[in-house]
Order: sequence, then C-alpha cells, then structure tokens
Amino acid sequence: MKKTAFITGATSGFGEAIARILSKEGYKIIALGRRKERLENLAKEIGNTHIIVADVRNKDEIFKAVENLPSEYRDVEILVNNAGLALGLDGIKDAQIEDLETMVDTNIKGVIYTTKAVLPLLLQSGNGYIFNIGSTAGAWPYPGSHVYGASKAFVKQFSRNIRNDLIGTGIRVTEIAPGICETEFSDVRFKGDKERAKKVYENTDPIKAEDIARIVLNCINMPHHVNINIVEAMATAQTWAGLHVEKR
Ligand SMILES: NC(=O)c1ccc[n+]([C@@H]2O[C@H](COP(=O)([O-])OP(=O)(O)OC[C@H]3O[C@@H](n4cnc5c(N)ncnc54)[C@H](OP(=O)(O)O)[C@@H]3O)[C@@H](O)[C@H]2O)c1
Repeated sequence: MKKTAFITGATSGFGEAIARILSKEGYKIIALGRRKERLENLAKEIGNTHIIVADVRNKDEIFKAVENLPSEYRDVEILVNNAGLALGLDGIKDAQIEDLETMVDTNIKGVIYTTKAVLPLLLQSGNGYIFNIGSTAGAWPYPGSHVYGASKAFVKQFSRNIRNDLIGTGIRVTEIAPGICETEFSDVRFKGDKERAKKVYENTDPIKAEDIARIVLNCINMPHHVNINIVEAMATAQTWAGLHVEKR
C-alpha cells in the first residue's frame, strides 16, 4: 500500500476522479467535501479512504480535521487543492456580492487553509506533492469571469511562489489549469439551472474529469527530479476568443 493522498472536493468532478485513479494506483485516500453521503459512498466503493465532512472556508474545521487524522492516514504525500467553484456569469455590475465573497473564501482562502494545515505532514514525507487546481480563467479573461478568474490567478501565483519557499524540501508543486470540462461545475455556476448548464457542453467535446485525473497521475509518475510547474489543458474544441472590438 502506498502513502496517502489528501483530496479536497472529492464529492464530484475532478476530485472524485482523482480519488478513484489514485486509489487504483494503491494510494490511501483522504476525501474531503461537504456532502457526507457522497463521501461515504465513494469510501465504500474504493476502500482505504478516510472521509472528512468539512467546508474549506472554515479554517477551524480544516485544521481540526487534519489534527485528528487517524495515525494510518498521517503519511500524506500528495495534497490536491481542488475544491472550488464559480457562481454566476453576470458582469461585475450585476454580480451578487455574496457570490463574489463565496468565490474568494473558497477558491483563495480554502486553498491557503488546506495548504497550511497539511504542509507539516507533506514536509515529514520528504517526497511531497501539491496540486493546485487553477483554471484557464486564471490567465485568460472572459466576460463574467471577474472574481472567479482573479481567484484562479491567485492559485497560479500562489503555486509558483510556494515552490520558491519549498525548495530543498523535496516537495513538488503543480498548477493544473483546465479549460472547459464537463462536471457539476456549470450546475453550481448556474445554481441548479440544469438546462442552462447542459447547454455549455452541448454539441462539443469538453475535457472529462478522468482526463484531469490522468494528468495528475502522469505528473506524479515523472521522476522526482522533474517538477511540472503548470499544465494548461484545453479541450481540442476550445481556443481563445481573440480580442473584442466595440463597433459604433
Ligand atoms: N469544470 C470546469 O470546466 C473547470 C475548469 C477549470 C477549473 N475548474 C476547477 O476545478 C475544480 C473542481 O471543479 P469541478 O469542475 O470538478 O466541479 P464540481 O463537479 O462542481 O466539483 C467541485 C467540488 O468542490 C467541492 N467544494 C466546493 N465548495 C466547497 C467548500 N466550500 N468546501 C469543501 N468542498 C467544496 C464540492 O464538494 P461539496 O459541494 O460536496 O462540498 C465538489 O466536490 C474547481 O476548483 C474548479 O474551479 C473547473
């Protein structure tokens, strides 16, 4: 049995797919999310999983959960900071302030809390790996991306900056920045409007959660002396929109 992978947002999408692929590779899994039943079902299915029902926005919950890890799950070698969300697609004028705060609290503060809480365990391992799930939105602007894109720009620079701090510790850090992927992301963004969410992926071939999981595994399997700094992965069917010019 390999060591332990700590995955936030393991109740759906990328996090769940990453939990499955790493479990198949022989890692023990710590699966964190707010939806208890989904975590329980996943744990039942893949085995060797410790579940944490917690909200990454809650600093105390995260630190306590790490403090209280059972001894057989303290050998954490991999941290995947994946929990995150976009809320709404209105422009900044019409965006709801509570949605903007939720994105900052989840995508920025959540990543900071989990990294700080888990880092002592990664340092002990001598062979640690931190994956931070960013987005193409962190580098490339689009209408309605304001705070979401900016929160993912944080993830990009945080990933680079902590690499500097962690040199000499053996810890590798990779930002994975996906483009369009079919998960529950759009259901969440459009607050349960499933028809609108479905349209995002209609008549095209988005990335699948399993593709992102394979990227994670490929990075882990590189020799330890290789650090992949950033993987930006778009669907073949997606490119940049180009610069927009307003015409009179
Ligand atoms: N799908 C895309 O097109 C796409 C593209 C680029 C980047 N991303 C990023 O990829 C990551 C995963 O998204 P996904 O596409 O897999 O979407 P998803 O299917 O909606 O999964 C999001 C996961 O994050 C968890 N989560 C959200 N808020 C949380 C909180 N406060 N505390 C704990 N867990 C929380 C959710 O669990 P609970 O609700 O059970 O807590 C869920 O497991 C996100 O960071 C997202 O921004 C997605």
